[in-house]
Amino acid sequence: MSYGHFEGREYVITNPRTPVKWINYVGTIDFGGFVDHTGGLLVCKGDPALNRITKYITQLPSSEFKGSTIYLRGRRGDRSFLYSPYYVPTLHEYDRYECRIGLGYSRFLMEYVGIRTEITVFVPEGESVVLQDVRIRNTGSDTVEVLDLIPVVEYSHFDALKQLTNADWVPQTMTSKAIGRPGGLLVLRQCAFMQTGRAENFLTSNSPVSSFEADRRRFLGENEYGTWKMPFSLVDGREFSNYEPLRGDNVGALMHHVGPLAPGEERRVIVQLGQVESVEKAMPLIERFREPEEVDAAFARMQAFWEEYLNVCQVETPDPEFDLLVNTHNPRQCYVTLNWSRYLSYYQLGYGARGIGVRDSSQDVMAVVAGAPGRAKKLLRKLLSVQKRNGSSMHQFNPKTMEATMGDAREMEDRPQYYGDDHLWLVFAVCHYIAETGDYAFLEEEIPFYEKDKEGRPLESARVLEHLERALAFTWNDTGVHGIPHLGFADWNDTVNLKIGAESFFIAHQFSKAARDLADLMDHLGKKEKAETYRSYAEEMKRRVNEVGWDGEWYLRYFDWDGSPIGSRGNVHGKIYTNAQSWAVISGNATPERARKALDAVYTHLNTRYGIKLSTPGYDHYDPNLGGVTTYPPGAKENGGIFLHANPWVIIAECMMGNGERAYQYHRQVNPIKKNEIIDIYEVEPYVFCQNILGDEHPQFGLGRNSWLTGTASWMYQAATQYILGVRVTHSGIVIDPCLPSEWEGFRMRRKVRGTWYEITVRNPEHVSRGVQSCTLDGEAVEVSGGAARIPFDTEGKDHVVEVILGA
Ligand code: GLC
Repeated sequence: MSYGHFEGREYVITNPRTPVKWINYVGTIDFGGFVDHTGGLLVCKGDPALNRITKYITQLPSSEFKGSTIYLRGRRGDRSFLYSPYYVPTLHEYDRYECRIGLGYSRFLMEYVGIRTEITVFVPEGESVVLQDVRIRNTGSDTVEVLDLIPVVEYSHFDALKQLTNADWVPQTMTSKAIGRPGGLLVLRQCAFMQTGRAENFLTSNSPVSSFEADRRRFLGENEYGTWKMPFSLVDGREFSNYEPLRGDNVGALMHHVGPLAPGEERRVIVQLGQVESVEKAMPLIERFREPEEVDAAFARMQAFWEEYLNVCQVETPDPEFDLLVNTHNPRQCYVTLNWSRYLSYYQLGYGARGIGVRDSSQDVMAVVAGAPGRAKKLLRKLLSVQKRNGSSMHQFNPKTMEATMGDAREMEDRPQYYGDDHLWLVFAVCHYIAETGDYAFLEEEIPFYEKDKEGRPLESARVLEHLERALAFTWNDTGVHGIPHLGFADWNDTVNLKIGAESFFIAHQFSKAARDLADLMDHLGKKEKAETYRSYAEEMKRRVNEVGWDGEWYLRYFDWDGSPIGSRGNVHGKIYTNAQSWAVISGNATPERARKALDAVYTHLNTRYGIKLSTPGYDHYDPNLGGVTTYPPGAKENGGIFLHANPWVIIAECMMGNGERAYQYHRQVNPIKKNEIIDIYEVEPYVFCQNILGDEHPQFGLGRNSWLTGTASWMYQAATQYILGVRVTHSGIVIDPCLPSEWEGFRMRRKVRGTWYEITVRNPEHVSRGVQSCTLDGEAVEVSGGAARIPFDTEGKDHVVEVILGA
């Protein structure tokens, strides 16, 4: 079955009955959320747990109303109709349906009963309002005598979890009031008592409202035995009751009479759903987006933002699906993960305390530094401010209150109450940011550590550089009996939670890479002694890893608290883990011979046609010693599933070892754009990466879930642009070191680095995988060493042409 296709920078859904809801993001976490492909809308302001606006329950069936919709009601001749231009919740037959997933907007097209509607949903940049810009045209040959347009939202309590846990207190706090009179431009204000400050939601439009409804019982009618498919308040051309509830399940519904509509005639109604401190004070904002020109200008500004963001890196390779991903869909997803971390998606529901993850967001930052350096820096500051004085880090924080927690560790008291990895990601993220931007001044910025006194004042601050050094020092001093770093509650793999004393090779590898990154930075800062010290740390860790961590064919993943190895051929389940191999190479810990063997072992034991599994074989029963990983059946999620986040690390490792064929094969087999061909197996959106695909031990092999918010986005983007295409920005210049499938003739990349443009052409006449033979910058030869070219940074602020030739 086909549900849609790619067109320009959009994905066009043409059949609304997709296997699961497919979504798109509008706005940012400051104000925004997602809109699904049938118009359902989940929006919040600042935080989906503490300030949620619409009630969108993803677990309800796809046919159900979720958060928001529009109804069209009318009559043409003797035919009456009531339907939604979003298809849900009326589920009617239609002549044409389209949902265009765009950059920051979704556009819906519906043709039915000779009426064509086009609705664009988006959030004007920096504003706290989501617009539904509706155009309705009579495409029939006779007049539509009666035509009513009725936007409807259902509100959530601001406290999203309370909404689901209390059905008396919540409705007792919810009130709605109309501002303005029926017959004119009316604002329907919705309000609840909120602990974290005052806020009012509003629903309004730029067309006269003849009546409104704000109480769900009245809207659905008959004590709610009316349904969203057929609300009783909409039968027989009735008007709404204009009732202003002081309790209840609050909705907002506005009746607009937009008919009659002569053949060819069109109306444009702009619906606003927003949140402000006070509607009275916000009237200028509300007035502004009643003007079509203002809406058009805001839309154009948003498009300009995306163009600018994407333009910093555009490529042309022999593979159009690779290009479509790398030029548009992958970097778009990276921007979305930067905004939302793992907080709010169709799968990660934004309730409770999860908030922004230090580990997750540090990785997200790495992919957007070139396109959105300002946002990246802002987020880095927040991430560093939840680091602790001892160098380790809190695990996650609420973006509104900046209150941080130790995540799931809190639930298991007999396990360590810190994560072994969080703080080390900070090192990667900051080093990456600095190299890309050249913003060395950031290293001097004072940022507080998380610990506070009774008044809430930070106990200590330090410069960013010292934050990084403390991170490294924490792990250097936190090793177990084999000299390998302690696991803590978990490393990257959240679901293996071993008892106190367990050691993690993933953290050993992370540590070595962090030490080398920091050494490179110290070199650049002229601090030779520190650079040497950190390099010696990395060398020492490498020695230990190779002494105790080699299993004969691959590297071990953990030592349990009692010293027994995990990820070893001696284990019955979980014999080999992917990350232990890829990261051994990425970190420089693997010796060349072992690196090759370890990566071959991944290919032999862990690769499938839908991607690389995280480990194998899957655990087949619950084992409290191992923890969460054994709660999944074999083949699911971290238990032998294709956990996509780990795939790009293997791609990077293969590139580092010069195996371009394999790196490309691994990239291509998980490229979501190709999933369009097997969408009934894959099920989730083909325009973004998902977090997990069921592995070949599972009967539903190939099924994807948890789309959008995954570190896969950032790392896939880095793998494609910095390792396959091989363009990396370092402290001392731009390294060009591609690792291609040998059949490629070459590629082109237009890349903006520190304010200047580089037009890079790579030719591969001898069809090799790797090895720069010669390179020119504006016609002059530049240094090539070790098979890579290094372009010095521009000092004149002009555009450059780089020509690279690969060869044996
Ligand atoms: C989820 C978490 C991430 C973790 C990964 C592997 O994606 O968000 O933090 O690293 O699972 O367990």
